[in-house]
Amino acid sequence: MEAGVFLVTGAGRGIGAATARLAAEAGYRLVLAARDAAALTDLAASLGGPDRAMVAPCDVRVYEQVEALVARVEREWGRLDAVFANAGTSVDTSFAGTGGAPPAEWSDMVLTNVCGPAFTARAALPALVRSGGHLVLTGSAAGRGVRAGSLYSATKWAVTGLAQAIRAECVGTGVRVTLVQPGLTATEAIPASRAADPKLAPEDVARAVLYAVGQPSTVDVNEILVRPVGQAAHR
Ligand SMILES: NC(=O)c1ccc[n+]([C@@H]2O[C@H](COP(=O)([O-])OP(=O)(O)OC[C@H]3O[C@@H](n4cnc5c(N)ncnc54)[C@H](OP(=O)(O)O)[C@@H]3O)[C@@H](O)[C@H]2O)c1
Repeated sequence: MEAGVFLVTGAGRGIGAATARLAAEAGYRLVLAARDAAALTDLAASLGGPDRAMVAPCDVRVYEQVEALVARVEREWGRLDAVFANAGTSVDTSFAGTGGAPPAEWSDMVLTNVCGPAFTARAALPALVRSGGHLVLTGSAAGRGVRAGSLYSATKWAVTGLAQAIRAECVGTGVRVTLVQPGLTATEAIPASRAADPKLAPEDVARAVLYAVGQPSTVDVNEILVRPVGQAAHR
């Protein structure tokens, strides 16, 4: 049987790269999307080369790029079965004080974390409806609890709402929509201030994604919150 096709945004490193590796082990062909093509090329080589992993440079902040990517996947591989809208970024912020990144640097995070998965959903859903496929979004534990002064947390609350809005609109299509909310995970994205905190490995989050995708097509795992043992409340 022809292998399913699994698209991962933010596949260059961290949670996305770990999920791509696990999906490849599960037999999927991978579409690897991020801005840095070099990182994707190295990962694709380790996953079996161009027949098994497509290098797909793409900036999820730009709708036309995501749309062109999905069109390329359907043109070259004829199908799209699972999409992991995972690309994201974070900067520290403060509303009441002057700490963290200056407001001029906030827009990039909002575009990446909110418009990124929204654009990915919009571009990919027609293909997922055709395949009866699965959309997985990376939210965060920060999208459930309050984080003082954190615009990052607010972007992940937006992803929580986005997943629910997409799932509601997909009723009757056969498409499944899963929100994965990781706690602190050991990737390049975490700030030095949290270096000593308990952390998940990226592979721990990848297993949660593959669990959801691996269920029967009649089972929609709506949400998975996975945090490291010992992570403090509201962290
Ligand atoms: N690490 C944690 O503790 C944690 C906890 C909860 C949730 N999360 C979420 O998990 C997701 C992955 O985070 P991570 O920790 O694995 O981060 P990471 O190691 O920094 O990886 C982020 C990935 O996203 C890509 N990316 C960033 N901006 C992009 C854009 N505009 N277009 C396309 N790709 C883009 C990056 O590649 P390029 O820079 O080459 O584009 C990279 O491949 C994010 O949504 C993050 O918010 C992380």
